[in-house]
Order: sequence, then structure tokens, then C-alpha cells
Amino acid sequence: MVTKTLNYFPVATNDLKVNTILDFDIFIQTSNNIVLFRKQNLPFTESTLHNLAENKVRTIFISEEDREKVENYHQTFQNYYSTDISSEGFTAPFDKPENVENYYKTYSNYYPLEKVNLLPGSEIDFNIYKQSDIDVEHYIGPGRKNSLSDIVPEDIHESNHPIVIHNDDIPLYREYIKKITSEHLHLSKDIPEFQYNIIRENSKFVIRDILKDPKNLGNIHQAKELVETLFNAIMDNKNHFNRLLKITTHDYYTYTHSLNVCSLSIGLGSSINLKDSELLELGLGALLHDIGKCSVNPRILNKPGVLTEEEYKDIQCHVIASKDLLEKSGHQISENSLNTILQHHEKMSGSGYPYNLAGDQIHLFGRIGAIVDFYDALTTKRPYKKIYTPFEAFQLLNEVKEDYDQSLIKRFIVMLGNQVKA
Ligand SMILES: [Fe+2]
Repeated sequence: MVTKTLNYFPVATNDLKVNTILDFDIFIQTSNNIVLFRKQNLPFTESTLHNLAENKVRTIFISEEDREKVENYHQTFQNYYSTDISSEGFTAPFDKPENVENYYKTYSNYYPLEKVNLLPGSEIDFNIYKQSDIDVEHYIGPGRKNSLSDIVPEDIHESNHPIVIHNDDIPLYREYIKKITSEHLHLSKDIPEFQYNIIRENSKFVIRDILKDPKNLGNIHQAKELVETLFNAIMDNKNHFNRLLKITTHDYYTYTHSLNVCSLSIGLGSSINLKDSELLELGLGALLHDIGKCSVNPRILNKPGVLTEEEYKDIQCHVIASKDLLEKSGHQISENSLNTILQHHEKMSGSGYPYNLAGDQIHLFGRIGAIVDFYDALTTKRPYKKIYTPFEAFQLLNEVKEDYDQSLIKRFIVMLGNQVKA
């Protein structure tokens, strides 16, 4: 029997925007009452939405006293989102099937470049394209009919649009990076900056190789070497390693996310004085934390729209898939590294996955992985969600009282604050 609904008004869960902070309490209806589900000032994340959906909750209730706050909330976020979500969960321009197809094609066939690694005036033997959300347009390279088309323009670093190359040209780009590394190291006045850029670019190549063939034992050995390189770069200058995270495209790719999560985990681990050997284990777990995503259908993984419940469940499988892949590779991974991988989606409140662990049941490395993974996801562009600035992400993290380890969050904010100041 339904009682006590008079002082509440209903809101469809689909009307709440993912990754926003709700400054009002949310209530849900049980068989005979309205009960508090989530207190105000907590983020409403994709997993909150799916927790509700899993419990077949499509409508939440809000106190009449908060009606004005809800109206303000809708107004504030109207600018960030398209309110028209198609039945398949796509927003414009992805509500047109041909745009979705072009997006998938671009996403899977092209590789994002960072302009900072292209030397103005240098010659390239691969084609570079300007990238939009759904398409690419030839920009420079030998394939373009122009006498200067294979020379990197002087103003390359000033242009704002993201650039990509076709996957087939990655070996040529890798050769180019090797060549300019040896040339540029003698010329550059800012060697540390350049070295960070090159470490980041080479890391992306290695992680991409690992994700393409995770069962290959040689690739896992490469992962260990990469973690050591990143560890040394971070330890060399603890207040400047955010250069490792700087990416110009901001688009979501598992390999850039893995690189960021690895670097940030080592940074956070070092700020709580973990031993070097532990930092290397944490870094390896963080680097490989999403390795199981290669078992998930890429069309779901890279869907430019809101996931259905079934799609979200498919994505959740990536945690156990990571463990299975590592077992199949025959590589002995330490307990600490494995905990980072297996627990990076667990939440202190017990509402995470795959094991619904809570509080102290979650290993320290799992708690570190969870914070860093959440932060990087917030600050990364996705076609259907607002991108958070680091400051907005700090604010959001500060509000999260139930899901993440509060003392680690404080350390994390101080650590990133030091990077910004530096
Ligand atoms: Fe993950």
C-alpha cells in the first residue's frame, strides 16, 4: 500500500543527468513507504542510475520543500546536455544512425595524435586528419595534393582541432617519433617537457599493444618495464608529473585512460609513503586495470550515448575478464596488483561491483584505483556527457562521502593541487 507520498513529487530517473551533483535528497518508494535513497550534495553517477534501474526504480521522489532546487538544477544543466535522448539512448548528432556509424568507424580506424609531438617544419610520410565527433577531414600528409602537404605547418601547435592518423600509419608515426626523439634531444631548450611528451606517447603505443593482445606474455613484460619508466619519471619530479597526463584530444581511449590511472595511482601512492616495491605493484595493477575491456563489444564500450541496463552489465564484466585474461597469459601477477584490478569499481558504501565489497573489505590499492579511475573518467571528454575541469572534479570528489575513502581523497586533492601550482 502506498502512503505518505503527498509531501513528495515524482521525477523520472532519466531526467537526472549523469555526473552532476544533486543538491536535494532523493527518495524512493518501497512497498509501503517513501524512504531516503541518497542524501543531497552527492554525485549522481552512471552507476547510481544503474543501481536504481537494477532495482526497477524508474521514478524517484523529492521533497516538496526542494522543488525550487530541482527546477534550478534542470535549468543549470539544460545547457550542457541535449534533452532529446532517442529510444536507443543517443543524443544529437548521434540520434541519426549514419552519424553513429561514422563515429564508430572514425573511433576504431583512427589514432589520436598529440600536436606537441609534431615538429613544425619537419617532413612526415603519413597522413594527418582533422577529427570532428563523427568524421575526419584530410589535413596534411603526402596523400594531399599540395606541394607543401608533407611538411608540418609552423602554426600546428596553435590550432585547436583534434588530429588523428589512420591506424595503418601508426608504424610510420612511431618511426617519426623515434627520429625526432634523437634529433630533438640535442636541440630542445626544454628537455624535461619534451621527455615527458615522448614518454607519454611511447606509453600509449605500449598500452595499445597490450590491449590488442593481452594474452601475449611479452606484452605483459613490456607493461612492467613501462611502469618502471613512469615510476622513475614521477619520482624524479613529484610536483611536475602532471605533464604525463596532458593530452590534447581529451577523448576517451582505454590506453590514455590506463596511462593516466597508472601515473595518478603512483603519484597518490607515493603521497601516502608507500614503499617503492608497492608503488610498482600498484602501478602495474593500475596500468592493467581495464585490460578486460578488450573482451567487451567495442560498440558498447565506445557508444556515443547513454548505456542501456544490459550494455552497462556487459561493461561491468570487464573486471572479471581482466583477471581471466591475466590467468590465461600465464603471467604471475602479485596479490597487490590483482587487488587494484579487481577492486577499482568497488565503493566504500558497498554499492560497487563486482563483489559489493564495503569499507575495510576493500584493499588500499583498490580504494586508490577507484578514486583515480573516477577522477579520470570525469575529466575526460565523452560525446554524451559534460567534461569536468580538474577543479570541478575536486569539488565533486569532496562531496563524495559514502563511496570513496575520504582520507585518500584529501591526499589526492592536495597532490593534484601541488601539480597545478607547480
Ligand atoms: Fe574499469
